[in-house]
Amino acid sequence: METDSTAKKRKLDEVEGGSSSVIQVGGLTVREVHPHGFGCEVLDEDLDLKNMSAQQMQAFKDLMDKYDVIVVHGQDFPETVDQVNVITSLQPHNKELIAKGHGNNFDTTDHPLVRNSVWPSEKYVKVVHPGYAWHVDGIAWSETPIIWSCLHCIKAPKKGGETLFASSVVCYDLLDEAVKAKIDRLTAEYYDDYQVHGWKLDWFGTHRTDDVEETRQLHAAEGTERSKRHVTHPLVHVSKDGKKSIYTGNHTLYRFIGPDGPMTPAETHKLTGEILTPGVQPEHVFVMRWKPNDVAFFNNRRMLHSPTIIERFKNEERHIKQCFLPAIEKVKSVDEAEREGLIKPATTSGAQKTSDASTVAASG
Ligand SMILES: [Fe+2]
Repeated sequence: METDSTAKKRKLDEVEGGSSSVIQVGGLTVREVHPHGFGCEVLDEDLDLKNMSAQQMQAFKDLMDKYDVIVVHGQDFPETVDQVNVITSLQPHNKELIAKGHGNNFDTTDHPLVRNSVWPSEKYVKVVHPGYAWHVDGIAWSETPIIWSCLHCIKAPKKGGETLFASSVVCYDLLDEAVKAKIDRLTAEYYDDYQVHGWKLDWFGTHRTDDVEETRQLHAAEGTERSKRHVTHPLVHVSKDGKKSIYTGNHTLYRFIGPDGPMTPAETHKLTGEILTPGVQPEHVFVMRWKPNDVAFFNNRRMLHSPTIIERFKNEERHIKQCFLPAIEKVKSVDEAEREGLIKPATTSGAQKTSDASTVAASG
């Protein structure tokens, strides 16, 4: 009879025989899921996120420092607060903002940090984009938007319903030096007008295609709390390790503002499509194929994510509980990072990389 340890060893051997590497981090065994190194899958079958030892918790924090996406299987959260307790115990966060209710306004649960994403849903079918939609979570909610998100699968369709992850660090790195110089000092202005007044994305989800000016005016005329939400963030975020990432949520993006003044919404959304398209090509994407009790944590300032085509699972149930953790720190601009000595001032010299903004993103 096969013992647990034999079965585990066999599983590891199978994984090691593939293209991904398996490593030990503080007693946890993880498989790196993408050649770019941004994601990992925890293989320890006995790990219970609700009851981690001090050593496991430290190892998990180390994973969060090293990887921007972490997948764990076989986790149950009987109470909504269980999911919240896990992520709040792992990452410093903005307690004051949580106390105010954060910014969640859609399919809420009994905890302000968690919302339901349920399919089929009459509500969703009227307002969601049917194709891909590359974004970060909750960008228009506050000055210190979500730092980590934690998704927990309750029900998954047999096919379709995946979540796609692309590194926004890679998105930045793939750009020509001249484009990097152009976007480094842009500020992005956001209004929470997604899902209203004819809001639309292009099929591949890299930019909006509605008349954003008109949508904004219609939304502003509502006079609701949500319609008044307005924030600006640097387009390029600099992390503590000095890496730059494209930080944007095109759902709610209105326009970019540069040193010479604002761009038009049309110029803004054309540029957004150009700078995101190279980095969301299939070879740069990790596909999360959900099974019940899977959990995916992701760094919302260094990862973009996208749903897949709704048509593929329209007759099946899909339920994900999404937990959003607001940050303490604002999005760090290139100017701030340079002033603090975190990065050196960029130059336009150096190798020029080729980007092809005319190619289209595809799904996994
Ligand atoms: Fe999202």
